Amino acid sequence: MPRQRVASLSQSQHPAIDIQDEVVIVVLGASGDLAKKKTYPALFGLFRNELLPKNIKIVGYARTKMSDEDYKKRISAYFKHVDSDEDKAIKQKFLDNCSYISGQYDTDDGYIELNKHIRKLEDSMGVANRDRLFYLALPPSVFAVVSAHLRRNVYPNDEGTVRVIIEKPFGHDLESSQELQMQLEPIWEESEIFRIDHYLGKEMVKNILILRFGNLFFSSSWNNRTISNVQISFKEPFGTQGRGGYFDSIGIIRDVMQNHLLQVLSLIAMERPVSFDAEDIRDEKVKLLKAIEPLTLDDVVLGQYVKSEDGKEPAYTDDETVPKGSRAVTFAALGLQIHNERWEGVPFILRAGKALDEAKVEIRIQFKDVAKGIFKNIPRNELVIRVQPEEAIYLKLNTKYPGLTTRTVITDLDLTYHSRYENLKIPEAYEALILDALKGDHSNFVRNDELDVSWQLFSPLLHRIDDDPTIIPEPYPYGSRGPKSVSKFLADRGYVRDKEGLYQWPITKPDAAQDVTET
Ligand code: BG6
Repeated sequence: MPRQRVASLSQSQHPAIDIQDEVVIVVLGASGDLAKKKTYPALFGLFRNELLPKNIKIVGYARTKMSDEDYKKRISAYFKHVDSDEDKAIKQKFLDNCSYISGQYDTDDGYIELNKHIRKLEDSMGVANRDRLFYLALPPSVFAVVSAHLRRNVYPNDEGTVRVIIEKPFGHDLESSQELQMQLEPIWEESEIFRIDHYLGKEMVKNILILRFGNLFFSSSWNNRTISNVQISFKEPFGTQGRGGYFDSIGIIRDVMQNHLLQVLSLIAMERPVSFDAEDIRDEKVKLLKAIEPLTLDDVVLGQYVKSEDGKEPAYTDDETVPKGSRAVTFAALGLQIHNERWEGVPFILRAGKALDEAKVEIRIQFKDVAKGIFKNIPRNELVIRVQPEEAIYLKLNTKYPGLTTRTVITDLDLTYHSRYENLKIPEAYEALILDALKGDHSNFVRNDELDVSWQLFSPLLHRIDDDPTIIPEPYPYGSRGPKSVSKFLADRGYVRDKEGLYQWPITKPDAAQDVTET
């Protein structure tokens, strides 16, 4: 199949906002895991692709005392594709722009030192403005104290602009999230804060609005007259792997559903924004979230993984960091109802689980049955947006089986990215988001009111699960598809599964891979 060359997006639809010419990026928590695994590799990826401002300095700040050499070894441990001499030279150039200051989070001294260091770097670059990006790669328990010290000691006041990136968890329920927001509000303007939900930086998630509103056949069928149900699924094939202590107080609903999957849902279901401006998009997302009914126990299936059927993989409670008898939820299916004209009556199902049979994140939109009459048993259309792995969009449809016959066959229109695009390089979510923050574009970040509404939806259910010891998650074996009752839960919400063996994506050999159905 001929591959498609990549055309750039129309500039009139996405006006480019110039990134600043010089900037100092400060990574707070530079010795931690997030910085090592995500922040620095993303900065390096941007640097390598020449997407960072020309004059850039990156300063790490953390409590650990580290030599320059140790710091650079640590932050580059997860850099990918640095094999050729040319790659190594780029890496070295990047590291030459990185430096490190150690200091406490709760006293001024370290920050005063940090500010002096930054000013020196800025002066050496001959900056016109002291523009600074603070990346808080830190646990939320220190967001407020670090913010207060940065504001007091490292804020450039009218000499430049500041952008602050923070990352979940933003509280563990509505109350704690609002408390955190109240602590940060007097310190940073809302326009200075960029709350990362890294799912909003994923290529296929960024594609949703274009796909929906840039194609009339989708935008005109995107409603309860045509769509039967929508599923957004997140599957991981591994368990907590020794991180159970952390996971136990959180559970899968707080970990990926209240944030990542709900964000995806809001893009799938929101109304058309007036423009691609951040506030227009976020206004529509908030309106949509407000139309969702808060969840109750009737809307959920909860599960916890036990040993795999062959006994080789551990149960969740075998993790030594997990408290004995833990009721933590490692799988959940949630049925949401949106009460507005477009969606009334269409179940939206969020599904997420650890220790399942495969790694997959996808959005599955199942259409209603066509009128019977000429067809007896024709399968439903489905539009599937595969977020990862193997980014793809495919539309399952019925056609005539070729030849002297009137039988129908289910097949698809398949846009699998790696076979369609030449030299495909999909940026990491963190790269996309850091770049957006540098550009000052908030579209793919979470606004404070969005956070409130999302917690309002989930908090009553979460409190009920946390507080009621009679709620015991249903066991499912490690490596399985999840709790048994999920099939009925989905069927009750209108989902019709294809007959076994009828269709499997990707279809590698259309004739061999599927049966035909008689009309
Ligand atoms: C994180 C969760 O936010 O997202 C993790 O805390 C989860 O538990 C991860 O594994 C999934 O992200 P990705 O990008 O690998 O799908």
